[in-house]
Formats: sequence, structure tokens, C-alpha cells
Amino acid sequence: MNSILPPILVVDDERNMRQTLMDLLTADDYKVRTAESAEQALQHLAQGEHLMVITDARLGGMNGYELLGRINNLWPNLPTLMITAYATPKLAVEAIKAGAMDYLPKPFGPEELLHAVARCAERHRLLKENASLRARASEIHTIDHIIGECPKVRELRQLIQTVAKTDARVLVLGESGTGKELVAGALHSLSARHKKPYIRINCAAIPETLLESELFGHEKGAFTGALKQKHGRVEEADGGTIFLDEIADMSRPLQAKLLRFLEDGSFTRVGGTQELRVNVRLIAATNRDIVDAIRREEFREDLFHRLNVVQFRLPPLRERGNDIALLAEHFRQHFATTMNRRVKSISRPTLNKLLTHAWPGNVRELRNVIERALILETNNEVQPPSLPDFQLESRLQHSETPKPAGDSLDEILANFERELISNTLERNQHNVTRAAEQLKLSRHALRYRMQRLNLADDSTDEATAPAAPASS
Ligand SMILES: Nc1ncnc2c1ncn2[C@@H]1O[C@H](COP(=O)(O)OP(=O)(O)OP(=O)(O)O)[C@@H](O)[C@H]1O
Ligand SMILES: [Mg+2]
Repeated sequence: MNSILPPILVVDDERNMRQTLMDLLTADDYKVRTAESAEQALQHLAQGEHLMVITDARLGGMNGYELLGRINNLWPNLPTLMITAYATPKLAVEAIKAGAMDYLPKPFGPEELLHAVARCAERHRLLKENASLRARASEIHTIDHIIGECPKVRELRQLIQTVAKTDARVLVLGESGTGKELVAGALHSLSARHKKPYIRINCAAIPETLLESELFGHEKGAFTGALKQKHGRVEEADGGTIFLDEIADMSRPLQAKLLRFLEDGSFTRVGGTQELRVNVRLIAATNRDIVDAIRREEFREDLFHRLNVVQFRLPPLRERGNDIALLAEHFRQHFATTMNRRVKSISRPTLNKLLTHAWPGNVRELRNVIERALILETNNEVQPPSLPDFQLESRLQHSETPKPAGDSLDEILANFERELISNTLERNQHNVTRAAEQLKLSRHALRYRMQRLNLADDSTDEATAPAAPASS
């Protein structure tokens, strides 16, 4: 049972004492590491997680009290047990003042030691439980929260299951609102690290100057306002996962520091010199065109390759077909429950409007639209008047790709086809043969369509088909 816990660090400058403590603890199935000085102890501690520290008060070099002071600064949650020479109240008070969780006067019996250690182990378990609860309190992500049955989303769920179990870095790409954060959360929840912290940082939301200290921490006095030492979020994430959202917005100098961190997990706090090391899995996301950011030299290519071990590309909602209906229904149920509204379904005409909208804001936009509709709807079915004016919104948000005009589907399709054919003809200097090739049609079929669509024939090639264009 104890063997699944991280090791206990025993610090004593006397070899015999180290050995005795080690024998006692290993007999009780604890893992043990030893250090003969405070300096060596700090090095061990920086390298990995420990259950607790047992230190003698008197050490060569830095003494036990100073060591406890350092430990409390660096790892405030790490339990410590101090072994003092005699059971005098004064020494006990000093040990506790220096930050020891408990103290044990010499000489002590094996049970006394094991009892004190068991108390520390229990505290460790509670702390861990708390931390993971805290990490999961806001949202519990599972694969079931990713709604959608289109092939790309089915594939995505499959890939998440596979990749989650590895420690591979993942880069999640996709337009705003496509579910990148949801995917990152699912990757953590399904990983072996799910009981450890899941730390999210939005690189765009934090001012550049503060982001470094947020990520890697700072030493007291590192900059104006750094009144005391602060642990970085990477330290908080030790053993777990860190999700860096909007990674393409990170400044170049910080990208360099992140690159080093990704190489071996090492970093230094802002204003510090000590090299620290943690074990975290990194997931990054961006809705920007990262290749373009690299081309503009805003994003380091070497960092991109480090992050891009596994890449997830989330499809925009407009390419997900009937998932729009599934998601709309999912959000209707969700908001009907949370708002306590008796809106039991979405009417067919409403659904048709939802299915033809381009969704520039993707799933987030759909979620907002349904939330708004449930607030406004007075019937027990969502009706079209409860939807926003999509035409207006589409024009605002996607002005570069106006939706072809038309009332009926036939009219919209015809307008679209007309636009596409005339653009292709134009690109090919009105050479019908070449345009037909590009559209994977026979020349005859293209001419037929042009005629049907009232498209003028300025063709440069000799047509064998004598289709005369109708006047427009
Ligand atoms: N497949 C899905 N199933 C259910 N809900 C989804 C799905 N995809 C996205 N959502 C929901 O849509 C909203 C936006 O998702 P999320 O925050 O993950 O988007 P994002 O890609 O991180 O966007 P941004 O780039 O703007 O940060 C959230 O409320 C999320 O729960
Ligand atoms: Mg996001």
C-alpha cells in the first residue's frame, strides 16, 4: 500500500542514523531516499515528488531549521518531520516555528516514528485529493461531453481515447468555438494523470510581462510588485497536465523559455537562478493560423515542432452537417433544465434555419443562440422568431464570403452554381474545355448548365456543341 506513495526523504549527516531510519521505513513498505546534507536534500526535492521529509535538527552546513525554512518556501505543502536531540519544549517550539509539521525527540521507538510518518502520509493523501478535486470542480470533462456523430467527430473521439493514455504533447487547432478546450479537458480526464492537477492558462488573456511569472513563478524582489516568492503554474501542475490556450499569442522571448522547458521539464523562476524541474504533460491550442504565424516570424518554428507531436484539427460547425441538429437539441435540453423552462423541442422551420446558417462562431455561437431562444420563447417549441437575424450576423462576421442570395434552396443553389461556373470560366480566360476539366464535367455538360443558368458564352474554344446561350 505504502509502496505506491512517492519516496520519503531522510536527511541526516550521520550514516548510521540514515541507515536505521531507512531500515525502519522500508520494513513498513515506504520508499526512501537519503541525503547527507540540507543542500543535497534540496537537490533531491527539486527533482521529483516526495511524500515527506524527515530531517535531523543538527546537520553539517545548513542546519535542519534553515532547511525547513527553505522547504516551506519552495514546497509549502510538503510535510516535514524534525528529529530533535532532546525533548525540551523550547526545541519543540523551534521546530514547529521553523515549519515542521511534527517533531520527534531522540531517543524514539520505531512505533513513534512510524506513527508520525503515517500521519504525514494521510495528510499527503488528503492534500492530493483536494488538489485534484479543485482541478475538477469547475468542469468534469469526459468524452461523452463531446456531442456529434459526423465522421470527423467520431474519429476525433477515437483519437482522444488513444492519445490520452500516452504522454504525447498535443496541439489542438480549430476555429474559435469548435471545442478545443473541451478536447484538452477530455485528454486530461482520460489520461493516467487524471487524479493530478489540470491547469489551464490562456496566454492571450494575461499581459505578456506577467505571463512568464504566472507560468514559471518568480522570486521575491524579481520585479516591482514581487513582494514575495511565487510558485509558477507549472509547479502546481507537477504530475498532471497543463493546457496552454491561445499559444500563438505568446511573445517570442517566452516561446524560447517554453522551448527549454519542453526539452527536459526544467525552468527557473523569474529573478531566480535555481534550476527547477517538474513532470507535466503539455497540451496547447490556438484558433489562429499557426503556419501563417510562423511565416510572419511571430511563432517559432522549432517550438511548433515540439508542440506538434499529435495534432487535432477540429472541424468548423458548418462542415458537420446534421451535428447542428444534435447539438441544438443537446443545448435545448441543457438550458431547459438549468433555466427551468418548459420548451420541449425545436420546430422544423427553426431547425431548417439553424441548418442553413454558416456558424462563424461555431458551437459556442450555437450554444448562445439556443440559450437566447429559450429565454425568448413563449411556446413549448422553439419557433423561428426566437432566433437572431442570421443574415445580418453572417454579413457582419463573414463579409468576405457572402451567402448567395435566394429564398428557396433551388434558387440558392442555382445562384451558387452560376457564381462558381462564371468564376471558373474567368480564371480560364473563358476557355470552356479547361473550365469543364477543372469542374470535372464534360464540355457538353458545362455548356448545358451555362445555358440553363443564363450564363453568357464568351468562349474562346471552338465548341462542337451548338448550344446557343439564352439571352439574359
Ligand atoms: N462537440 C461539442 N459538444 C458539446 N459541446 C461543445 C462541443 N464543442 C464545443 N462545445 C461547447 O462550445 C463552447 C465552446 O467550446 P470551447 O470553449 O472548447 O471552444 P474553443 O475551441 O476553445 O474556442 P476559442 O478558440 O474561442 O477558445 C463550450 O461551451 C463547449 O462546451
Ligand atoms: Mg478556448
